[in-house]
Amino acid sequence: MPLVRSKEILLAALEQRFAVGAFNANNMEQVQAIVEVAQEERAPVIVQVSQGAIRYAGLEFAAGMVKIAADLVDVPVVLHLDHGSSFEQNIRCLRAGFTSLMFDGSELPYEENVAITKRVCEIAHAVGIPVEAELGRVLQFAPGVTEEEVKRAMTDPEQAGEFVARTGADSLAVAVGSVHAMRERRARLDIERIAAIRRRANLPLVLHGSSGVKEEDLKEAIQSGICKINVATYLNQAFTRGLKDGLAKHPDEVDPRKFLAISREYVKEAVREKIRLFGSAGRAGVGGGLRPGSARHPGTQLEKDESKE
Ligand code: G3H
Ligand code: ZN
Repeated sequence: MPLVRSKEILLAALEQRFAVGAFNANNMEQVQAIVEVAQEERAPVIVQVSQGAIRYAGLEFAAGMVKIAADLVDVPVVLHLDHGSSFEQNIRCLRAGFTSLMFDGSELPYEENVAITKRVCEIAHAVGIPVEAELGRVLQFAPGVTEEEVKRAMTDPEQAGEFVARTGADSLAVAVGSVHAMRERRARLDIERIAAIRRRANLPLVLHGSSGVKEEDLKEAIQSGICKINVATYLNQAFTRGLKDGLAKHPDEVDPRKFLAISREYVKEAVREKIRLFGSAGRAGVGGGLRPGSARHPGTQLEKDESKE
């Protein structure tokens, strides 16, 4: 079915206490793996295009793959911009048919983050597309990163309430103990902080950097208000393991499809594990019919405009 937007799916997840898997994809095999498993598990799913994916595959190519994959299944698939780096990039993604945006102003001074997020929201909302914002900062893993640094970058619950009220963001990425790109699951989440943010900013909360978080913490976080969980490194690890195993098993093979098919299978199993862990299996019904162009939101001309591109 055509792409759907993230808003109603995340609100349903918040209410029903599960989380939607938001999986980063950089190539065709990863897109196929994510969407095929969503179909098999009857789960709504978010496919994310990161800054690296845009540099690697190009915006139109990345978006095109996800649109095609979504058309081949009958579960809700969202095309989301991950860590949108500027106002302009968000607008380019709107035009390219993304059904969910993100402006990441977490490295900017607070007032600048407010101002740009608000501007992105105003424009995206005019065509019915929701926007994720970020407050506090989810750090990038590096050997020297200390617990102190992670703590200092955490989201202030009080400020989160004000930020959401001023910007109109539809969901909020929060810094609560996770760190991007960890290869082992040893990060602990500040569950109390998640609950405190939720009390002040009543909207779907997003967890970034989930690959390095302990499973029990992910489950508790979902109970406290996290309803979108981003996964990238864990899938890349699975993909690369598939390549290595394939090369080791067939050292004389020259057809790359032999290796890529193994990678795709490994990614599928990683996605399945996460979808089940997040409780989104069997929830495909939550986003049905709520896509740009449907009568229930203002972006009624979007599909028509897209067909011209
Ligand atoms: O935005 C993407 C995610 O936050 C992914 O983080 O690579 O640690 O899973 P991860
Ligand atoms: Zn992230």
